[in-house]
Parts: sequence; structure tokens; C-alpha cells
Amino acid sequence: MNAQIIDGKAFAQGLRERVAERTAQFSERAGRVPGLAVVLVGEDPASQVYVRSKHKATVAAGMASFEHRLPAETAQDELLALVASLNADDAVDGILVQLPLPAHIDENAVIAAISPDKDVDGFHPVNAGRLATGLDGFVPCTPLGCLMLLKDRLGNLSGLDAVVIGRSNIVGKPMAQLLIRESCTVTVAHSRTRDLPALVRRADIVVAAVGLPEMVKGDWLKPGAAVIDVGINRVEGKLVGDVDFASAAPVAGAITPVPGGVGPMTIAVLLRNTLVAAHRNAG
Ligand code: GUN
Repeated sequence: MNAQIIDGKAFAQGLRERVAERTAQFSERAGRVPGLAVVLVGEDPASQVYVRSKHKATVAAGMASFEHRLPAETAQDELLALVASLNADDAVDGILVQLPLPAHIDENAVIAAISPDKDVDGFHPVNAGRLATGLDGFVPCTPLGCLMLLKDRLGNLSGLDAVVIGRSNIVGKPMAQLLIRESCTVTVAHSRTRDLPALVRRADIVVAAVGLPEMVKGDWLKPGAAVIDVGINRVEGKLVGDVDFASAAPVAGAITPVPGGVGPMTIAVLLRNTLVAAHRNAG
């Protein structure tokens, strides 16, 4: 068997086009364009690349992009004041504070300061709680993108065994919640998990989000499993995922490549969440 390659780049492009069409309809009806504010503190090179891509994609979708770049030594109170002003700004539908923040700033305090109704990242505890309890809210972009790819490939996920490797608030935990919502039987594995290969071998769906290059090996997989690789690791100048693609592709039924798999979905879903926020804010 050789896995079907899940083309996240093409899927994300299609989603971005649909969002752009619906943004044009919204703007005509509402008499204003949806707005996304992105806040970057400091000079982290990877974050700078992400923020630039988000800005370009936002403008390309027909939305207003408000970029706020602050120096690394910005005080937490200054950042909280900026968030408060964005919460109060009617032109801003979505607010994203790029993580990680410099060490002197309490990330949780900043996330908690964002209005849950503008929290297009879905990181606010209110949105995490809504997801966990089955209420409507914003869902973090990367796991929602993974779910879209899985449903596009597999259709109904009900009853499938899923293993999520990684328990971060940004990916692992919300991914597990989304899969539970789809009636999967979900195991969340992490650095203390015993015998990870044995767990992975039972799984119809494997989502790898640990940040360890090529950790998941092909001989761990159940033949035919759907493998979603969230990892983006730079090894000797080359991007590799958390899954050892060379050994996994002959065993899996479907697999996302790195790059070109999950990565492009994050921004596409961010635009989708911003459009949803605009509709909600417009009443
Ligand atoms: N840093 C890495 N991924 C993300 C993301 O999805 N949102 C934010 N705000 N920061 C990130």
C-alpha cells in the first residue's frame, strides 16, 4: 500500500477562495470589511514570517489587516492596554497576539484580556470551555484545519480510534476535543506516555503535534491509518514533520506532507474565523 497524499496546500487555497467570496458578500451587505488585528511583540524570526503571511492573506481575502509591531521590551501593561483598545474598536473583528511572547510577559494574562468574541485564535479560556462543553465558539485554527482535512478524506469519523500525540493548549488539547465531538475514541499521548508505538498501532487516526523531528515511525502505524503531521522542524536546513514520512507513507492510508500539509491550513482557518467573527459582531 502507498498512502494518498493529503494536499493541504490545495485544500487551504480552496478555503481561502470561498472565504474571499463570502467576505465580498459580507462587505457589500454590511458596508464595511471584516478586520483582523495581529500583534507581534519582539523580533522572533519565525513569528515575523508568520505575521507577514497572515497580513498578506488577510488583504488578499478582502479584509482589513491591522498590524501592531511592538519592541521586545514592551511592558505587559502596555500590551494589555493595546488589547483593550482593540477590544473596543468596531473596525476590529478578530484579534491575534502572536505567540510566543517575550519571557517577561504572562501569556495567559494577555490571552485572557482578549474579548472572547474577537478571539479568532480560540485560545481564550471561555472558548476552550465552549469547545469542551459543545457550545459554539472559536476553535484554534491548526486543529480545526486538521479536522477539515480528516473529514474531507474520511467522511464520518464516528467510532474511529484516534491518537493525538502532544497535549498543548494550541493543538493537542483542542484537537482531542474536536475528535471527541466527532465521536472518535481519543487517546492523548505526551512525553510521559508509556509504549507510544503500541498506542499508535491501534489508531485509525494519528495526529502528531510534539515538535520532535520524524519521531513517529512507519512500523508503529496500523496499515491504512490516516496520519496528520502538525510538526514543522528544521533539520539541517530542511523542513521535516514529527512523522518519519519515508517509512510512514508506505504503511498509511493517507498522510499530510511537510511542507504543504497542515501548515497552509492554519492561515486559511484564521481567515474563516475572522469572517465568522465579523458576522457575529454585525449581529
Ligand atoms: N504561534 C504559533 N502558532 C500560533 C497560532 O496559531 N496563533 C498564535 N497567536 N500564535 C502562534
